[in-house]
Amino acid sequence: MPDLLSDKTAVITGASSGNGRAIARIFAENGADVVVADIQKEPRLGGTPTHELITEQTSSRAAYVKCDVTSNQDLRAAINQADEYGGIDVMVNNAGVFAHNEDLFNVTEEDYRTMMDVNSKGAYFGSQFAAEKMQQTGGGNIINLSSINGDIGTKSNVAYCASKGAVKVMTYALADALGPDIRVNAIHPGMIETAQIVKDYDHLEEEQREERLDTIPLERQGHPEEIGKAALFLASDLASYVNATSLAVDGGVANTR
Ligand SMILES: NC(=O)c1ccc[n+]([C@@H]2O[C@H](COP(=O)([O-])OP(=O)(O)OC[C@H]3O[C@@H](n4cnc5c(N)ncnc54)[C@H](O)[C@@H]3O)[C@@H](O)[C@H]2O)c1
Repeated sequence: MPDLLSDKTAVITGASSGNGRAIARIFAENGADVVVADIQKEPRLGGTPTHELITEQTSSRAAYVKCDVTSNQDLRAAINQADEYGGIDVMVNNAGVFAHNEDLFNVTEEDYRTMMDVNSKGAYFGSQFAAEKMQQTGGGNIINLSSINGDIGTKSNVAYCASKGAVKVMTYALADALGPDIRVNAIHPGMIETAQIVKDYDHLEEEQREERLDTIPLERQGHPEEIGKAALFLASDLASYVNATSLAVDGGVANTR
C-alpha cells in the first residue's frame, strides 16, 4: 500500500507517550512529517523520545516542541512549527489526563478545572488554531481523543467523563463549523496499555484487573498501535467521507456493557 500520508504534516499533542506516540510513529511510517507537542520530551514509560525515534527509523522529519495544551501560546507555537514542513494538514488533539478513582465529593474546583483545561479546552483551541491555518491552505483534518468515558458514565470518574463527553460533542460541532474543507472526528479508546493504565492504575489488585478484562468482549487491553491505526485511517483519504463521527477502539466494550 502506498504511504497514506505522503507530503502531509501532522501536529500531535501528548505525542511523547502512549497513544500519541503510536499515532506519531505510524503517521511517520506512512510519510507524514510530525510535530510532537508535549509537556515532556521523555516518554512516560521510557525509551527514545518520539521525534528522535521517527528521525532514526523513518524517512520522515520530526520535531519536538515543548507544549502545555492549557496554554494557547504554546499551542500556537506547536502549530506554527508545522510551517517548517509545509504547514499543518492533520491536527491530533491527544494530550489528556486521567484521575484514578476520583471521589465525586473530593474533587476540588482546581481538580475539575485542570481536567477540563487539558482534556477539553486544549482540544478546543488546538482545533481553533489548526483550523485557521488549514483554511488558509485549503483544508485538512482534525482528530480528537475522547474516550469510552465520552459515552459511558462511570462513578469513579465523573470529572473525566465530563471532559471527554465534551470532546465528543465538540467534535461534531467542529465538523459542522469547519466543513467542507476540514473533516473532524473523534477516537474513543477503551482500556489501552499506556502509562495511564500501566502506571497510573498500578493500585488495582490483580482481581480488579481481571474483572475489568471480563467486561471486554475481546478479553484484553488494547495496544497503543491499535489507536495509531485508527488515527491513520481517519487522517488519510481512506476516510474521505468520514466526518463528525466517533470511532470506538475499545474491544467492543462500549456497546456491550
Ligand atoms: N490509555 C487509555 O486506556 C485511554 C482510554 C481512553 C482515552 N484515552 C485518551 O488517550 C489520550 C492519550 O492518553 P495515553 O493513554 O496515551 O496517556 P499517557 O499518559 O501515556 O500519555 C499522555 C501524554 O500527554 C502528555 N500531556 C499530559 N498533559 C499534557 C499537557 N497539559 N499538555 C501537553 N501534553 C500533555 C503527557 O506528557 C504524555 O506524554 C488521552 O486523551 C486519554 O484521555 C486513553
